[in-house]
Amino acid sequence: MAKVLVAGAGGYIGVPLCKKLLERGHSLIALDRFFFGKDRVDGIALSDRATVIAEDIRDFDPEILSGVEIVVDLAGLSNDASAEIDPELTRSINCGGGMRLARLAKEAGVRRYVYSSSASVYGHGLRERLTENDECRPQSLYAESKLRVEEELGNLAGSGFETVIFRNSTVFGLAPRMRFDLAVNIMTLRAWKERVIYIMGSGEQWRPFVHINDVVQALLLGVDEEAERVAGEIFNVGSDEMNYQIRHLAQFVLDVIPHVTVHRIPDDPDKRTYNLSFAKIKQRLGFEPSIRVHEGIVEIKQALERGDIAGEDPTCYTLQWYRSLQLHPGRRRRDPR
Ligand SMILES: NC(=O)c1ccc[n+]([C@@H]2O[C@H](COP(=O)([O-])OP(=O)(O)OC[C@H]3O[C@@H](n4cnc5c(N)ncnc54)[C@H](O)[C@@H]3O)[C@@H](O)[C@H]2O)c1
Repeated sequence: MAKVLVAGAGGYIGVPLCKKLLERGHSLIALDRFFFGKDRVDGIALSDRATVIAEDIRDFDPEILSGVEIVVDLAGLSNDASAEIDPELTRSINCGGGMRLARLAKEAGVRRYVYSSSASVYGHGLRERLTENDECRPQSLYAESKLRVEEELGNLAGSGFETVIFRNSTVFGLAPRMRFDLAVNIMTLRAWKERVIYIMGSGEQWRPFVHINDVVQALLLGVDEEAERVAGEIFNVGSDEMNYQIRHLAQFVLDVIPHVTVHRIPDDPDKRTYNLSFAKIKQRLGFEPSIRVHEGIVEIKQALERGDIAGEDPTCYTLQWYRSLQLHPGRRRRDPR
């Protein structure tokens, strides 16, 4: 079992990933600025194999990396809209912070570095079934920042430093730090609560989707697989069967929650459209997502019906929440309201 540092441990993907790492017997350092609150890692902190550290990837003490064997980097501004709030800040967190963490990890002798990149690096795809070898045409600062860190990892890889890059599809499903800024999640919430679905842009744009549990499984493969199968590799994370046009998603939600009005917002300038091949991760790592979009919609609807979630927690809305914060290093505002 390894000593693993997860940066961005308090986020949507981070919390379930940390729980799984502990279940598998790994030791854990859960590092995060905890912009969305620290309470979601309370359970993780109870483990005698876990240490929770409230630090910023831009200025944490490198001593924290002492003895760490594997780093998983999930930290940063996690969608296009949040990355546009303040471009300089985005460059400093997503590019500067991400590259600093990777360089310090290599210097500290970390063996493996798993980076949570995004399928959005493909941006405006010129054909269907794009592979990891196809050209990336990022359409946003967020996607550019993910690609910049990927490039830096390409430079750092080798000499005992194993890099593994996952280009995740858009994630859906329930998690402790719930995100209602993600397409499936927000469409389901609005349909259930307000009886409306908004389709941004033409609705023709393609996106691949993956359930939160499945993306966690992929990241665990990045941590646990033999080096010869993953080191120096980039993997699209998702399933060939789960590339959808946004208008398809609306129909899936309508199938589960009928009698809902669909509003189109055609002027939304969404130029991102990408339809990917997931052959590599399937063939190399045997990875095949187990949860379909339909099941994710049902899961969220049932959680709403039970009252487990209500969509009222402001931290579920990444852009709006970040707008309400001042994201500067050194400041420690746990309750910004
Ligand atoms: N969720 C998705 O659909 C998706 C898809 C593709 C890629 N990704 C990538 O996966 C990663 C995790 O995504 P997520 O959905 O869990 O996002 P998230 O916003 O829930 O989590 C990101 C975490 O990073 C922390 N963070 C932000 N800036 C920090 C800093 N300067 N120092 C330390 N911690 C900081 C936040 O507090 C938060 O807990 C991100 O890098 C995102 O770009 C996510």
